[in-house]
Amino acid sequence: MTKTMKNIDSFGHLRGESLFVDDIITKQNTYIGLAFDSPCAHGKIVNIDYTKAEKVEGVAKIFTYKDIVGVNQIGGIIPDEPLWAEDEVHFAGQPIAFIVAKNEIIAKKARALIHIEFKNLPVITTAKEAKSKGSFINEPRSFVLGDTNNSFANCEYVFEGETFTNGQEHLYLETQGCYAYPMENGNIKIISSTQGPTQVQKAAAKVLDLPMHKIEVDVTRLGGGFGGKEDQATAWAIMAAVAVQHLKKPVKYILNRHDDLRMTGKRHPYQSSFKIGLDKDLKIKAFEAEFLQNSGAAADLSPAIAERTLFHATNCYFVPNVKTTVYSCKTNLPPNTAFRGFGGPQGMFVIESAIAKAANVLGINKRLIQKANLISENDTFSYGQVATKTEAINSWNSAETNFDLVHIENEVNDFNKKNDRYKKGMAVMPIAFGISFTNTPMNHARALVHIYQDGSVGISTAAVEMGQSVNTKMLQIASETLGIDPEKVKIETTNTTRVANTSPSAASSTADLNGKAVLKACQSLDKRLVTVAAKMYHVNEYKISFRSNFVFIDDEKTKHLWQDVVAQAMLERVALSENAHYATPKIHFDKTKEKGHPFAYHVYGTSITTVTLDCLQGTYEIDAVKIVHDFGKSMNMGVDVGQVEGALVQGIGWMTMEEIAYDETGKLLSDALSTYKIPDIFSVPKTVEIIALETKGDEMAVYRSKAVGEPPLMYGIGTYFAIQNAIQCFNNKSNLTFHSPYTPEKVLMDLYKKEA
Ligand code: MTE
Ligand code: HPA
Ligand code: MOS
Repeated sequence: MTKTMKNIDSFGHLRGESLFVDDIITKQNTYIGLAFDSPCAHGKIVNIDYTKAEKVEGVAKIFTYKDIVGVNQIGGIIPDEPLWAEDEVHFAGQPIAFIVAKNEIIAKKARALIHIEFKNLPVITTAKEAKSKGSFINEPRSFVLGDTNNSFANCEYVFEGETFTNGQEHLYLETQGCYAYPMENGNIKIISSTQGPTQVQKAAAKVLDLPMHKIEVDVTRLGGGFGGKEDQATAWAIMAAVAVQHLKKPVKYILNRHDDLRMTGKRHPYQSSFKIGLDKDLKIKAFEAEFLQNSGAAADLSPAIAERTLFHATNCYFVPNVKTTVYSCKTNLPPNTAFRGFGGPQGMFVIESAIAKAANVLGINKRLIQKANLISENDTFSYGQVATKTEAINSWNSAETNFDLVHIENEVNDFNKKNDRYKKGMAVMPIAFGISFTNTPMNHARALVHIYQDGSVGISTAAVEMGQSVNTKMLQIASETLGIDPEKVKIETTNTTRVANTSPSAASSTADLNGKAVLKACQSLDKRLVTVAAKMYHVNEYKISFRSNFVFIDDEKTKHLWQDVVAQAMLERVALSENAHYATPKIHFDKTKEKGHPFAYHVYGTSITTVTLDCLQGTYEIDAVKIVHDFGKSMNMGVDVGQVEGALVQGIGWMTMEEIAYDETGKLLSDALSTYKIPDIFSVPKTVEIIALETKGDEMAVYRSKAVGEPPLMYGIGTYFAIQNAIQCFNNKSNLTFHSPYTPEKVLMDLYKKEA
């Protein structure tokens, strides 16, 4: 396999030739759409007056819930989200109407002329307040293993504390958008920047009251999704589709950055509390946590994200007695949604904080507790899955020796002895992340492979390319399996008429699910062509193979090309297309018992982070992050290392500088890149070193190349604790805060904190 293949989009991206939704050449008379959203976070709509706006020259129509033919409902897991608000609004930024006009300037002008009056209702912005008022999305869920109560009584040490992790803006380079146009017979085609084409199709069918087959959704690629387009690309696509249904004209809607920031949900902020019990050997005997998820005003994916928080609440540690509970708290913020890690990072931060708290009070190094509790073979996770092929201890040990942890620590200590104003800190962050959609029925995909008679190949799957290079991996699998050059293979757009009933591209599982389907389809086709070639040469089938476009007999290259066999197959009327289905075997989960085997496998790894802190200013630099990561047998190291680096930096941003702020009225304050800071080249670690852990991989991963999209984000959590470690070297208090992001302001507070 060409394991060094570059992302097949790199050439097009570099030259600016790749097509995103806004680059598609539009049809004549394409209208532009623009949502009118609520300025009020919670209120009754007393009056709306569209008359002035409607009169603006060039406005085709202003759509509201009254124009919906089907149901005004886009909720995926729970039907609690209208497309357009009716008589009440539940968050600032909630769409109320959709202006369709000749161009954007006209649409904006009309939007400014809509007059709306509200009767304000009480606004809840925090999860804690929601809980105190009994405002929830659904019932809380708990995972229980063993008996925490009894166990705490026998623990040598018990510590309690509270944590907070803020939300995170996806900041995909390509904002949300879609382009919808009428086809014949009332059919509608939607080009959408979505991770979930079927989700868009299904929800559009309901809102437009059409059968799904009348709606075709097509995705070329996304300029990033990061989870933000798993569920939240749907609304805009349907708005445009409703307009198409009425106007029978093409409608495009690309959100500008401000509108996107204001109207879309983000990573869920969590307010959590923990109780941890250890024995005298630092073994964690019991762990309890209560997670308050700030879900926003509607369910969106919150229940699934809450569930994953519970799955990852003990990270890569074995804890025999666990009780974790998560509340999805309903607030008046835009519905929060999937973001790389899907609630896992929020869960892991809490146990890492609990361990840090224990270490801070005991006056020992956090890593002693971490290391003493790494999960090993045949230990059980709190949800009943038995850990097999665990790499937690392996990856820890490998990081410790390869990066010489003791040496790093000595350097930090030496520096700290010599310096007063500046202090260095370090932290180790081991991770374990479960691969599969936690909702078992979602773990399937299909591939449709056509071999054309000239020997070129077209592949359709459910995979959406969003920068993670899944198309490159699909192409590698096809060219390897068919024995042909990558140039012969084209990856088609993701389209609901070619691959139906897809799960979104998410859960880091896209390459596994779709790759296994491509593999199956190509293997079937290969077999057919082998039969044809064997007949051509009058030899047994087992002697035939295809390599680098040529037919081989035994190990001898023949003069015949692969495409000659394809041409012969065509003459013999052999089917040159194949559709394959893959559904992850072995996984199951019983939600009534909260036990099962939900994950195909886990991804492990360990990072070591060092930082330098300016104890006068509270500012810091990340010196280095050194990672041993479990890629399994990576099928494309360039791509996979890119995923680790990108995820790491995204995790660091979440932990250190990305600060979402809403005021008490529910208005987003961090509504521009001047007030929402993401990592730039100056704030990334000065050194990033990544070593692949030598493992056999897992047969559940395609080509044993483990999923890589989300897990490395959680290495970023190490940054928080490295900073805290530096603070301790300056101000050794046991009551430091677990409140991310650790912005310089908060770092300063901890630097000069007094004992409680
Ligand atoms: N990488 C890039 N460049 N852009 C993205 O939008 N999304 C991440 C991750 N890596 C993303 C990315 C998220 S949230 C997921 S779930 C996975 O990619 C999805 O792709 P995969 O299943 O192919 O790993
Ligand atoms: N991960 C990511 N996205 C999802 C999941 C999951 O486990 N379940 C539903 N959507
Ligand atoms: Mo990723 S959060 O599963 O799209």
